Amino acid sequence: MTLSIEHLSSGYDVAPLVDQLARNPDVWDRYTLRTKGYEATPHKSVSDIWVRFRAWSEFDGDAAKFANTAHESVWYPVIHQIPTAWSLARRVVRDVGGGKLGGVLITRVPAGGEVKPHVDQGWHAGHYEKFAVQVKGNAKQAFCFEDRKLSAMPGDLYTFDNSRCHWVTNGSDEERITLIICVRRHEH
Ligand SMILES: [Fe+2]
Repeated sequence: MTLSIEHLSSGYDVAPLVDQLARNPDVWDRYTLRTKGYEATPHKSVSDIWVRFRAWSEFDGDAAKFANTAHESVWYPVIHQIPTAWSLARRVVRDVGGGKLGGVLITRVPAGGEVKPHVDQGWHAGHYEKFAVQVKGNAKQAFCFEDRKLSAMPGDLYTFDNSRCHWVTNGSDEERITLIICVRRHEH
């Protein structure tokens, strides 16, 4: 892909996921390697849900190795509490032309929060294309790159290149929630 971030379509029904998240506040931050795992993390103010990723049984204490060496992804048990994340992810894979599903992550940037500028590196980041469905958010939040930014509205699907420097701002009074879906497409 040539653009750093690109809106693809709109109209995904995210209301059921919003509802499932609201009814299950315990689903957040069960795994904090990404958000609290190291001092310089750009995701310090972020909460997340690992919906699908490398099996936790393969974690041996080495956080870098866990994300940065080749692996298969599996659904995490949380999927039973928020099954709509599963159906949305499958729909996105189909809508982008099919392929192999990698990690699925839900991130939450609180009102007034941010993700600091960073580049995502390692095996998983490089192996899959990144797609996202906006779950919550408004015009006062943005996913930013040096050359362009996107204020995605709930139900929007977009793709982004996280090998380039990116950051997130949320200057609004509402939390910003995103479902990130990693896909290795057949034709790419
Ligand atoms: Fe990132």
